[in-house]
Amino acid sequence: MKVITTTSEMFSTRSDLADTIGLAPTMGYLHEGHLSLVRRARAENKIAIVTIFVNPSQFGPEEDLDSYPRDLSRDLDLLRAEGVDMVFVPSPDELYPSGYQTWIELAELSGVLEGARRPGHFRGVATIVAKLFNLTRPSRAYFGQKDAQQAILLRRLISDLHFNIDLVICPTIREGHGLAMSSRNSYLTANERERAAVLFEALTTAGTTYKAGERDASKLRALITDKLAAEPVAHPEYVSIADLETLHEIEGQISAPVLVSIAVQVGRARLIDNVWLGVHVG
Ligand code: PAF
Repeated sequence: MKVITTTSEMFSTRSDLADTIGLAPTMGYLHEGHLSLVRRARAENKIAIVTIFVNPSQFGPEEDLDSYPRDLSRDLDLLRAEGVDMVFVPSPDELYPSGYQTWIELAELSGVLEGARRPGHFRGVATIVAKLFNLTRPSRAYFGQKDAQQAILLRRLISDLHFNIDLVICPTIREGHGLAMSSRNSYLTANERERAAVLFEALTTAGTTYKAGERDASKLRALITDKLAAEPVAHPEYVSIADLETLHEIEGQISAPVLVSIAVQVGRARLIDNVWLGVHVG
């Protein structure tokens, strides 16, 4: 497994490759969710490239950039065991050298849901992912459904900027009781981790009710809100039912695929989770 730390080496190594390339961009501290992307990238392409970069530009000034969990040697061991061909681990100065000033912003998709609560977050995500696309020029890029808005926005970015890349959205990987895997779950105490199962329970209740025929978005939203309200450790930030493509909030009847998404503070962790209704992921 080749470990690359500079953009010049990444460029020259990439230029020598003619095979299909699967890219799994990550911020490290890998868990089974990341590894599911890596396995798929390996299975569907000749070469699998993983990037590990805690991207400063997608963190707000009050967010957890400094404390974001990191364990590079463990990550590299895991990726070696998965048979990954290349890992790109640049430093912040390598990707944002002094004088850096180019940013990518999606006019509408960046400003709603997570974007409304985390100003600048998706500008950072869109910019870093476009840079990683340019550096690695993958045939396919793998992202988790867990970060649904990110995946939807990157699909738009690929189309708007004419990247010749297939975006593959992989299903959320969950712990036994349903909590979506996330590097930030490490902020939870054992008790909070158990209780955080309420996020998926609430989403599942909405999903089951939808499958039984309910199409009133407000009723589904209320079901989720009530379920979360019954768990004292859960402090919901938003409960949204939005069009899966435009992310416009649905007020009346659901007639097209929707993203049901929630953000909930549990202890030190701000957790997000979602289900998609009316469409299959995977
Ligand atoms: O999903 C993530 O881990 C990050 O947002 C990404 C896509 C690696 C960009 O920094």
